[in-house]
Amino acid sequence: MTGGQDDSFPIAVLGASGYAGQVLHALLMHHPRMRPVVVDGRESEASVVAICRDVAAAALALPDEISHTLSDAIAATGVKVVDLSSAQRTAPGVHYGLPELFGAPPADATVVSNPGCYPTATLLALVPLLRAGLVEPAVSVVGSSGTSGAGKALREDLHFSELYGNFFPYAVGRHKHIAEISHHARAEVSFVTQLLPIVRGLGVTAFVRTEHTPAELHACLRDAYADAPWVTVLDAPGDGLGVRHIIGTHQAVLAVGPRKDGGVVPVFGAIDNLMRGAASQALHNLNLWLGLPAGLGLPAPLPHAPAGPPGMARFG
Ligand SMILES: NC(=O)c1ccc[n+]([C@@H]2O[C@H](COP(=O)([O-])OP(=O)(O)OC[C@H]3O[C@@H](n4cnc5c(N)ncnc54)[C@H](OP(=O)(O)O)[C@@H]3O)[C@@H](O)[C@H]2O)c1
Repeated sequence: MTGGQDDSFPIAVLGASGYAGQVLHALLMHHPRMRPVVVDGRESEASVVAICRDVAAAALALPDEISHTLSDAIAATGVKVVDLSSAQRTAPGVHYGLPELFGAPPADATVVSNPGCYPTATLLALVPLLRAGLVEPAVSVVGSSGTSGAGKALREDLHFSELYGNFFPYAVGRHKHIAEISHHARAEVSFVTQLLPIVRGLGVTAFVRTEHTPAELHACLRDAYADAPWVTVLDAPGDGLGVRHIIGTHQAVLAVGPRKDGGVVPVFGAIDNLMRGAASQALHNLNLWLGLPAGLGLPAPLPHAPAGPPGMARFG
């Protein structure tokens, strides 16, 4: 459905007052073929469904339970739903919206589940290696994120006095992204997370066990993303994994580290959690789903590796 004289697609945004929804709303404001329709997710279900009947798609950036209920109700009317919450990410039959790995949403899909932030970075780094059989399907991952990943609600461990000048592990062994990553990687994934005193951005380091050289893993990732402009595979980790350079972009930056002793190689991924990990990924899915060019309204791809601190030796 298009609407209005400007022939743009009206996109309902539920949760536009939250961190992910704010960013999606801003992207839609600048989109040449879509416009946001802000819908208060705290309205009654009947009101939400009534408003959403007139849109081309609804994006839900709400807490899991509410997202799931409203997703079912809106999708039942035939309106496309992109669910940014984690409610449906491993649900059977629901398209998992990580375009570089799982393709465009099928035209007849009713719901697209937008991947989580850590899973996006981790899966982009791991899945080509796992699919090619280059690494063992049992991987240890350390993820580090800024505070916006937890949303805007107040929490003791997120407040300035606790986190400024500090960092610490959180949700160890019980992070909700463990199941999502394992499911879509089709691998056994051990995943620990730490909270950093920054607002946006996250990095993951996956320690893969392999008989192959880092150069072979690097070549595999390069090939896998040769036609993926929003995935940069660096020549070496020191060439630009810092999150400062990718905040506000849709870019995922990957790198392969050196192997020292044994068969373990670190593989890195970094993204802006609110963009590639949430809002711009939702927009990427919407573009593909509505038959528009993939990059419409998205920040242009970074043609070169983002600038980073100099220094780490390339792998041999
Ligand atoms: N933050 C990230 O990096 C990120 C990344 C990927 C996915 N996500 C997912 O995206 C969703 C939103 O995350 P967020 O970080 O944007 O959260 P947030 O900043 O806490 O915002 C939550 C939004 O949901 C609304 N909301 C809260 N409780 C509600 C209720 N009971 N009924 C209706 N609406 C309610 C809030 O409205 P009020 O302003 O009225 O409270 C706000 O608009 C979550 O499911 C999260 O897991 C977040």
